[in-house]
Amino acid sequence: MNKKVYIRTFGCQMNLADTEIISSLLQDEGYVMTDSEESADLVILNTCAVRENAVEKIMNMLDNLKGKRRLRPNLLVGIIGCVPQYYREKMFSMTDGIDFLAGPDTYRQLPFLIENAEQGIRGANLAFVPEETYAGIEPVRTGSISTFVPIMRGCNNRCAFCVVPFTRGKERSRPMKSVIEEVGQLAEKGYREVTLLGQNVNSYFDDDARCGFAELLERASLAAEGVRIRFTTSHPKDISESLVRVIAAHDNICNTIHLPVQSGSTRVLKLMQRGHSREDYLEKTAMIRSIIPGVTISTDLIAGFCGETVEDHRETLSLMEEVRFDFSYMFCYSVRPGTYAAKHLPDDVAEEVKKQRLEEIIALQNRISGELHAAEIGSIHEVLAESESKRSREMLMGRTGTNRVVVFDRNGYSPGDLVDVRIQSATSATLLGNPE
Ligand code: SAM
Ligand code: SF4
Ligand code: F3S
Repeated sequence: MNKKVYIRTFGCQMNLADTEIISSLLQDEGYVMTDSEESADLVILNTCAVRENAVEKIMNMLDNLKGKRRLRPNLLVGIIGCVPQYYREKMFSMTDGIDFLAGPDTYRQLPFLIENAEQGIRGANLAFVPEETYAGIEPVRTGSISTFVPIMRGCNNRCAFCVVPFTRGKERSRPMKSVIEEVGQLAEKGYREVTLLGQNVNSYFDDDARCGFAELLERASLAAEGVRIRFTTSHPKDISESLVRVIAAHDNICNTIHLPVQSGSTRVLKLMQRGHSREDYLEKTAMIRSIIPGVTISTDLIAGFCGETVEDHRETLSLMEEVRFDFSYMFCYSVRPGTYAAKHLPDDVAEEVKKQRLEEIIALQNRISGELHAAEIGSIHEVLAESESKRSREMLMGRTGTNRVVVFDRNGYSPGDLVDVRIQSATSATLLGNPE
């Protein structure tokens, strides 16, 4: 009988896409995927190290698995992804519940690590493999409507707070030809939405084809007409007018940009080593809004970074008012050992102050999202239905091209359909409506 593997994924979309690659590698070895930890012969945790609670989270899960291991001594447990890449072999000494470790560049070695683990040999492969893009592996996709296509791996920026360059290594781009072929195949298979993924998509470059991100995006849109094309993440210092013009020129490229700003204070942005100021950011967002009417802009914000004063925090709030983000991912700053900030900048904003500032940021974002959503009442949006709504089987949940969540009466439609929906009411999180 085939062995069963349960993979639990934490962190960003890049990790979700990696899990699809790992599933493919393990299926080739005869494993079948299961979504029940109880029935699995192999449990893999694909982990995220971006904030400091990462290790505790994993240790708690491993504690829970300990009982199961006593009952089923052949159960194997592997920890992979950004946490082992960051903490390396010392993870073995944190607990005895781990059979193998692998990092984001060494998933091709998983069959070997698992085979050794079956013989009682604990192993780790945490090498950086600068040329690894997992070309040639066809991911086992979890959805049938919307899916990801990683276009690059790693990150060459050095934002002072961030572990990603340490966990994912140097930036490398996948060849343009293989990205475009994959997008075309997904369109043929009936996918309705493809998201191109990278930590900083604007610095995508295929040296051989001399192709940058604007051209790649245009080619992707032409290779999959009628399929929605999204991308994430853009970096404010690198987003170009030519890219914005490509978005405006192609109907199937969604009119939404995730553009993390992190702080509204130029002084803090400098400490963060982001490579852009408040003014640069405002110029870029004004340029985007002037070229793409109706575009939505979302962001990431960090409260209480090293040295952040009340004045700096107010600048973040005022930038939010000025740009009017559609939504934000909002975090308290958490120190990550080894980063520039951990080494050179004191973590001098008290925890309660960080929390207080984060609450203010969240409250403001909720207000702005609520106002932007309320302004949509009465308008009609094309919504890609993704699934049944959690509330009722008679309702569907989907998104507008501008990435707003819409719940609407089913009226005979199914997930995968593009539906014109008139918006009837709104909360700060969701639009509610009826098909036209
Ligand atoms: N590459 C993307 C970018 O440049 O914005 C996103 C990278 S990161 C995985 C996602 C978000 O996590 C960041 O934009 C930042 O807001 C947040 N983040 C990263 N490190 C953090 C830290 N040490 N403390 C709090 N938030 C952090
Ligand atoms: Fe981290 Fe900055 Fe790279 Fe984003 S651009 S992954 S925040 S170092
Ligand atoms: Fe993503 Fe977390 Fe790694 S955000 S790149 S899974 S550290």
